[in-house]
Amino acid sequence: VVSRATAIAHPNIALAKYWGKRADGHNLPAVPSLSVTLAGMATTTEVAFDASLDRDELHLGGAALPPDAEATRRVAGLLDRVRAASGRRERARVVSRNDFPTAAGLASSASAFAALALAASAAAGLPTAPALVSDLARKTSVSAARSAFGGFVELRAGRPGDEALAATPLAPEDHWPLAVVIAVTREGPKDVGSSDGMRHTAMTSPYFPAWVDAAPSLFDAVRAAVLARDLAALGAAAEASALCMHASSIAASPGLLYWTGATVEVIAAVRRLRAQGTPAFFTIDAGPHVKVFTTPEAQAAVGAALLAVPGVLRTITAVPGGGARLAPS
Ligand code: DP6
Repeated sequence: VVSRATAIAHPNIALAKYWGKRADGHNLPAVPSLSVTLAGMATTTEVAFDASLDRDELHLGGAALPPDAEATRRVAGLLDRVRAASGRRERARVVSRNDFPTAAGLASSASAFAALALAASAAAGLPTAPALVSDLARKTSVSAARSAFGGFVELRAGRPGDEALAATPLAPEDHWPLAVVIAVTREGPKDVGSSDGMRHTAMTSPYFPAWVDAAPSLFDAVRAAVLARDLAALGAAAEASALCMHASSIAASPGLLYWTGATVEVIAAVRRLRAQGTPAFFTIDAGPHVKVFTTPEAQAAVGAALLAVPGVLRTITAVPGGGARLAPS
């Protein structure tokens, strides 16, 4: 007997960054974060619990991953939680594909674990309310908690004693028609992954405590700007959040610098656009790409300007999108 389900989830981009975990080992974020879920890029994941399997299998983009691969172990960890909650014992085959490049560090773990949490819950007969899916995804990857919901999504910091912690929707995707242009500055394998990068930063950076202190008020400013649909205020707060996060990592020992020359060139281009009166602001995750937010009216001009920056290989455009959903299997 095989019970299966398929789910689709989208990446999200944090406007107020999550970077750093609480020390109590429950994968709780040390800071609050706020993101926008994107339409136009998706992970589709099928989970099939199958009594004939003797271990969990992960197939990514058509290729089977080794059992000891980091991704396979994280997937098996999430499936173990689903088995514990549902009483099922079968191992599962997980078949997942992204319609955007996985290896380039483009926020693939958020959509991956949100889709997996929803598909695995449904396949095991567990309830699939978005808050439950969000908490389950968060236990494996914090940013994935936010992709359970669409639109603008917030996730508070963990508190001592928290066991469940889910993201919550702040405003729907049509609250504010922001446009996103991602400047891809490198193809190929990713950098130090975010889990390792934030652990290294927390352990060695003298500025990590300063980041944890600064993050809540940056989050408050991002949140207020989103609710007020104030692009200038959002840009200032979101850029400050990204720069403070990266400053904490740059000051780690050895320093963790996710940027390349092209990353800095894109930052300069965004500032030039703004000086010329074009609304645009940037954010940067654990990689060299730059994610630029603008208005739908200015999206084409921003895209053209970013493509002209030396070192920018291509651009990807996106708009706010919906939360994780089940698909017909
Ligand atoms: C820079 O959610 O990938 O993208 O919880 O260890 O899986 P784990 O980390 P992850 O970190 C994402 C960090 C970020 C900022 C953000 O998305 O808020």
